[in-house]
Amino acid sequence: MTELLRIIRERKSVRTFDGRPVSAEDREKIEQYIRTIENPFGVPVRFVLLDAGTHGLSSPVLSGESLYIAGIVSKVPHAEEAFGFSFEKLVLYAWSLGIGTTWIGGTMKREAFERAAGLAEGEMMPCVSPLGYPAKRRSLKETMMRKGVGADSRLPVEKIFFDGAWGTALPPEKQAEISDLAEMVRWAPSAVNRQPWRIIVSEHGYHFYEKRDKGYIGEKTGDLQKIDVGIALCHFVMGLEEQGKKPVVTVDNPRSEIPENAEYIATVNI
Ligand SMILES: Cc1cc2nc3c(=O)[nH]c(=O)nc-3n(C[C@H](O)[C@H](O)[C@H](O)COP(=O)(O)O)c2cc1C
Repeated sequence: MTELLRIIRERKSVRTFDGRPVSAEDREKIEQYIRTIENPFGVPVRFVLLDAGTHGLSSPVLSGESLYIAGIVSKVPHAEEAFGFSFEKLVLYAWSLGIGTTWIGGTMKREAFERAAGLAEGEMMPCVSPLGYPAKRRSLKETMMRKGVGADSRLPVEKIFFDGAWGTALPPEKQAEISDLAEMVRWAPSAVNRQPWRIIVSEHGYHFYEKRDKGYIGEKTGDLQKIDVGIALCHFVMGLEEQGKKPVVTVDNPRSEIPENAEYIATVNI
């Protein structure tokens, strides 16, 4: 297993923390890493570290956390996909340091976080995350939440990767060629674990689509499922980079027959 695949497979949302504050050394590493984060949409994402105590911040699904990170993006085309991509880079980096996170788009007092983060006109703060060291045992509430959304399982590869046309499963030999990358995409986190990403593999590249469900678009968050697709895209692109490849991401709409509730997001060329 590659190092990136190991991090992706081992990462889980962490909602129960052990109460230790993030060390000055780890905080410094995170601050440095944030400055290097880019995404292929060229839409900058601003990160703000927020001390829970100073700002009176909390979330009903979390316990033992004392630090949060908020992500902020301008309301421009591709804002959500860019946000998903950049914020997930931070999530994976934090995990590599032994720091747990949870994407939080809903279960928080949003106004308090937006005020603390200094949200300006024309910007949105779709999600925040706690940063901290995981407790040895999950709270009962967390265990129940994970069960409720089936957090430990994902759709099979053939439901996600299509061969040339929407709905045509990728044959086993083509699945084998991209097996590590496919695992990285499968195990991406998503809102309520819906995994709304679909990828058509063609001779022109890997075309990423959003398969939209009802109820994931809000004025304050944008389209949460576009964020999800940005996360899956992040895993795919990072996987290719780990292989020494230089993937190019474009957003030119490829012509393809897709269902009404689907939307084209981006194409990756190697
Ligand atoms: C965009 C987004 C928003 C999310 N919002 C919340 C939230 O408000 N509260 C929460 O407890 N988890 C939230 N999650 C976490 C998901 O429930 C979690 O990633 C998913 O169930 C898979 O579990 P895992 O991260 O442990 O693999 C969110 C995830 C994403 C990607």
